[in-house]
Amino acid sequence: MTGASEPRVRFGQDGAIAILTLARPDKLNALDEAAIGELGALCQRIERDETIRAVILTGEGGKAFSAGGDIGGWSGKTPLEFGRFWLREGHAVFDALARLRQPLIAVLNGHALGGGLELAAAADLRIAESHVKLGLPEAGLGIIPGWSGTQRAVRRFGAPAIRRMALFGEVFEAQAALELGLVDVVVATGEGMAEAKRLAAKVCERAPVATELTKMLINAAEGEERERVLETMAGMFAASTEDLAEGVAAFRDKRRPDFSGR
Ligand code: COA
Repeated sequence: MTGASEPRVRFGQDGAIAILTLARPDKLNALDEAAIGELGALCQRIERDETIRAVILTGEGGKAFSAGGDIGGWSGKTPLEFGRFWLREGHAVFDALARLRQPLIAVLNGHALGGGLELAAAADLRIAESHVKLGLPEAGLGIIPGWSGTQRAVRRFGAPAIRRMALFGEVFEAQAALELGLVDVVVATGEGMAEAKRLAAKVCERAPVATELTKMLINAAEGEERERVLETMAGMFAASTEDLAEGVAAFRDKRRPDFSGR
């Protein structure tokens, strides 16, 4: 049983690879406010850690990667609380995951349902073990897939597959999910983490800055974070100029800057 003080998400590191593990197996890794808060804090930590070059996200227990938003956690909220403290906060954290500087690999070592699939959609690559099922059951509970299941998931996977899950309640097994593009790789049960580490090691061999910039560009092409990418890239370029050094020096010296245009 998970106690109140135990983390909902475990952090581990294997060399340059960070490993996040949803650690609430008795509730099939259902995501409550504590889990969302911890994922958000871990994103900040990983963003700032220059030793981390790739991230793996998985779930404990083997039955579920995550069975989605904690039904008891959201069902008692007023509509305003639900919007403000559940949907918006979940969005902010899933955005942070999708926009991590480092490539993110999701290991679906169990079912990914509802918010669990939305969480997996934030990754750059999804590895599914052969026994897992994917679906968006929310409308069967009277709610919508509100952690980007109708937005990022549609952008990343295309509307047809999302319609089949979200409107018709279809649940796909790993092989069908591969054919629909919901996952990138299917491996035998128990082999997801080894495959993720193999791919993460490939990331770690490559140039970190080029990888970071490339991820940003791909995200921008998808409409994931266009404004931030534009200003980040332009800002980094401006920061490399002699003009910036001169502008700051002139400010400090209380004189007019003499810009060289380089
Ligand atoms: N929120 C909160 N608790 C959840 C949960 C969720 N989304 N999904 C599973 N759990 C809990 C169950 O309540 C149960 O807790 P209990 O042992 O205290 O009763 C435990 O996890 C195990 O789940 P259980 O339903 O007994 O397992 P199962 O093998 O019979 O069924 C599922 C597995 C995934 C089919 C079923 O748990 C399910 O349909 N979950 C909800 C999925 C969903 O609708 N997600 C979207 C939510 S918005």
